[in-house]
Order: sequence, then structure tokens, then C-alpha cells
Amino acid sequence: MSTLTFTMLKPDAVSNGYAGKIINDITEAGFKIVALKYTKLSPEMAGRFYAVHKERGFYNDLVSYMSSGPIYVAVLQKDNAVADFRTLIGATDPKKAEAGTIRAKYAKSIEANAVHGSDSDENANIEANFFFTQFERF
Ligand code: CMP
Repeated sequence: MSTLTFTMLKPDAVSNGYAGKIINDITEAGFKIVALKYTKLSPEMAGRFYAVHKERGFYNDLVSYMSSGPIYVAVLQKDNAVADFRTLIGATDPKKAEAGTIRAKYAKSIEANAVHGSDSDENANIEANFFFTQFERF
């Protein structure tokens, strides 16, 4: 069944010039881009987006990193989108990501790990709604 997931191409991926290559990998893997935006998070927005990690030791660094430069945000559609996208991007820590995955190819560190991918259908919906209205999806 066709389902949705949400992704961000993070500041490291954008500043290193990998955004085009990553978008190509995503579409080659069969994902349809139904919404796409180039934007920059304020610290307040980054904090709200990652509020589930508030108690984690890396939260403050993550918020300042995610608001340090422009990002791309996108909603993607495919059968089994959430799980298939997580397979495509690989483990959170690029050192543990399987060869050929987006994080293995393009990420710098566990924090600057090139891309975000939703971890459930419920969070995909919440995250897509954080950035896009229904009228911005095609
Ligand atoms: P993401 O999948 O977007 O979800 C939470 C983010 O926190 C993660 O990717 C990393 O960018 C960042 N992060 C930094 N340190 C850690 C850590 N030790 N474990 C998990 N995520 C981390």
C-alpha cells in the first residue's frame, strides 16, 4: 500500500553539496516526492521538531546544529515508505550504516548524519504536517 514518510536533508548534506545526489538516490529507489521545500530552522523550531529528544544529552547540540544552516524538507510516497526509507538511509551512526546507504555515503558523524527519516507512520504524519499544508502536496 502506498504510504508516506518525511525526510530532512540536514545542514551538513546541504553545505557539502550532496543535496542533489541524495535526492537522486531517493527517487532512484522508487520514492515519489510529493512535497519539497528549501528552508532554515530557527532554534525554536528545531527544538520543537526534536522535542521527543529533550531529555537526551545530545539535545542542545542537535538543536543548534539543525538550525545552523539551510535544509531541504520533503514528503515522500512509496509502498512501505517508512521502513524502506530507513533501509535506504542506514543506521543513525554512519560508522554503523551499511555500505551503499545514504548515511554511509554522505554523513559526517552521528549528529551531522546527512538525513532524517521518520520512524513510524504516525510520526511521518506529524512531521509532514510540521512543514506542509495539504495544499502543498502533489
Ligand atoms: P535523527 O534520525 O534525525 O534523529 C535524532 C537525531 O539526533 C539524529 O538523527 C542525530 O542527528 C542526532 N544525534 C546526535 N547524537 C545522537 C546519538 N548519540 N544518538 C542518536 N541520535 C543522535
